[in-house]
Amino acid sequence: MTMEQELDLSAMSIMDSLVRNDRAHPDWLWRSGALVPWAEASIHVNAVGHASVAAVFEGIKAYVSHDATKLLAFRLDEHLRRLYESARIVRLDIPYGIDTLRAAVIEVIRANAYRDDVYLRPWAFPAGIIQEQMVPAGIACELVVDSWTFQSGLGTERGCRAAVSSWTRINEASMPPRVKAFSNYHNGRLAMIEARENGHDWPILLNERGKVSEGPGACIAIVRDGVVSTPNTTSGILESLTRDTSITLLRELGYTVVERDVDRTELYLADEVFFMGTGWEILPVTWVDGLKVGEGTAGPVVRALDESYAALVRGASDLHAEWLTEIPF
Ligand SMILES: Cc1ncc(COP(=O)(O)O)c(C=O)c1O
Repeated sequence: MTMEQELDLSAMSIMDSLVRNDRAHPDWLWRSGALVPWAEASIHVNAVGHASVAAVFEGIKAYVSHDATKLLAFRLDEHLRRLYESARIVRLDIPYGIDTLRAAVIEVIRANAYRDDVYLRPWAFPAGIIQEQMVPAGIACELVVDSWTFQSGLGTERGCRAAVSSWTRINEASMPPRVKAFSNYHNGRLAMIEARENGHDWPILLNERGKVSEGPGACIAIVRDGVVSTPNTTSGILESLTRDTSITLLRELGYTVVERDVDRTELYLADEVFFMGTGWEILPVTWVDGLKVGEGTAGPVVRALDESYAALVRGASDLHAEWLTEIPF
């Protein structure tokens, strides 16, 4: 049996199951203070290019509750706080307080009458047409909240083939990975293209010290002898909320979780490897660099985490209700 046949892991099926656009676009976006119809949310062509280099964003999920009575936005305020942190580092002044942004996200969900799991993307970008190559600090910025439905992989049998990239993760001294800037994704994109060209699904990037950092859209953890280890937040990673959630849930499940440097060769010896991110959710890595991880399927720790995470985001457990913002149907 080939790797491909063991699990249906073609790159397209993974992409499909992670983020599937059931609607071509939402009816309504939120843009700088008000809901606007999709067709009217335009900008001049000259507003892309140098102007968009400084843009920062967030990726937030709202899940349908287990009793199908509401959507539950997961760690909404923390995501919005990270948006302000990203904006602060790149010197964009978001002209709205967190109460306005929280209300904007909820307004977008209501205006589009979502009844499915929905991904929300607020982003801030310099307003107007900028001709300077170096976008100045403190420039006026616009804020948009976009959204689309997605198909959650939680609770399904899944996995991916990963490979260590020949590209190095951007680092604090050049392009800080702590900032959720669109520009940073060029690094992950190059790594993803290389991985796909070589027949893998996703890359794992090493940092400038040669230690494991993260994937292009998710943090990573390994399990060895029952202990979970994940690179710490100064390893060249985004300060991921799913990583933080996973650490909390795993500890509550009784596992030891250590934040430390992880070596490439530990990926080869690990019993389990998994990605953690809002978009990718909890994604088991079943092959690394052509080596099978464990039995080549999701292991017990990642299964326990997946179950606990799925129950949490759908409000089916009584844990961490403080992380859920209710938006009744
Ligand atoms: C590069 C990168 N790392 C990690 C993550 C995971 O972050 P979070 O769990 O907050 O979504 C993301 C998610 O979007 C990401 O793009």
